[in-house]
Amino acid sequence: MKVEPATVLVGDVAVPAVKGICQRGVLLGAIAEGTTELRGFGHAADTDAAIRAVRALGVEVSEPAEDIVRIEGRGLRGLRAPDEPIDCENAGTVLRLLAGLLAAQEGRFELVGDASLSSRPVRVEEPLTRMGAQVETNEGRLPVTIVGAPLHAIRYPLPVASAQVKSSVLLAGLLAQDGPTIVEEPTPTRDHTERLLTSIGVPVRRHGNQIAVTPVDRLDAFELDISGDFSSAAPFVVAATLLAGSELRVHGVNVNPTRIGLLNVLERMGANIAVFNRRRVGGEPVGDLDIRSAELVGTTIEEREVPLLVDELPLFALLATYARGDSVVSGASELRAKETDRIEAVVDGLRPLGAHIRATDDGFVVRGVPSRLRGGSIDSRGDHRIAMLGGVAGLVSREGVDVRGSDSIAVSFPGFFDLLDSLRGANT
Ligand code: S3P
Repeated sequence: MKVEPATVLVGDVAVPAVKGICQRGVLLGAIAEGTTELRGFGHAADTDAAIRAVRALGVEVSEPAEDIVRIEGRGLRGLRAPDEPIDCENAGTVLRLLAGLLAAQEGRFELVGDASLSSRPVRVEEPLTRMGAQVETNEGRLPVTIVGAPLHAIRYPLPVASAQVKSSVLLAGLLAQDGPTIVEEPTPTRDHTERLLTSIGVPVRRHGNQIAVTPVDRLDAFELDISGDFSSAAPFVVAATLLAGSELRVHGVNVNPTRIGLLNVLERMGANIAVFNRRRVGGEPVGDLDIRSAELVGTTIEEREVPLLVDELPLFALLATYARGDSVVSGASELRAKETDRIEAVVDGLRPLGAHIRATDDGFVVRGVPSRLRGGSIDSRGDHRIAMLGGVAGLVSREGVDVRGSDSIAVSFPGFFDLLDSLRGANT
């Protein structure tokens, strides 16, 4: 996919639903009683992987309209062990959250994934084993087998700030025989699981950095409206900020404070972004974003801020390239455990385009240059966030960027390149 340069970005857009809420909705719907309806659902490989996984566990799922998904819940412990392994495909959220639910089911379950997921650490075997399940991995990697058991509550300090691991333990805690199960976060991570549980009537308590759930007897089916994903809005926010004269609105974006770290970082850098029409959808804060272009200055991102923009750090590298002065990201070694090693992918991807960027063990350092990147080609390495980075880099470059492996975009945002193209101002 060759993305040609643009001069400005103008228009009004909406982006697909929050991927992680779609996945959480499917998984919780599967253990509820009755018919759960998810509205505004965003189909993509990762969200469809959640649907396919629960179907493999005996759950009926129907799609009465393009953005509506109905799940016939089987009750808290009604998931059926299939003979075949359950394929989580590219989706870490499906793998880790589903593992939490399966730890309390009757039977033996095997979870597998694609080559990327199979190379990433599973990370939930330790807490789920402590709770009483039998969990075996291939030296911390897939395949993982889980033999469910009656679970006991634990207190679990997260060794890394991971919302997926936190959510896995909280969901297992919901199905445990006793409680409360308490997870301690080293720094705040996205709280979609806590908000969704609260909005469907399950009390989740937070005291400082501790999050506690107590077991429930049943979960009632629910209806959930899902707003737009900030991580899917972010490439448009970045492109409109960098292209002088741009004016862009992105409507109905989830602005959960644990997700919009990039907005705070952009504000520090001098960006011109307003959030208006603030409202609540499905227990989550939502707003419309108004983005005007701006000249940026470099900034520093440290460990504490990383989880709040973890999926946007590749885009931050591009912003930093165009900002005045140096920028530094540290405390972000988690990037090496994502769909690909995102420190390496970003540095090896942007440098040939003309960026002054170098990797460190736990982040990267960028020297901003006042002119456009030259362009060239970038390999997504099968990672949708790197494909997005390549697309935006193409728009803001002098010669365009050839995004290799651009089809990986389908993991979260199948229509991304078409939407990007449709926003080029008339004078390009
Ligand atoms: C996610 C949490 C983040 C994020 C991932 C989705 C989630 O991972 O990178 O894309 O849905 O909870 P970690 O919290 O494991 O870092």
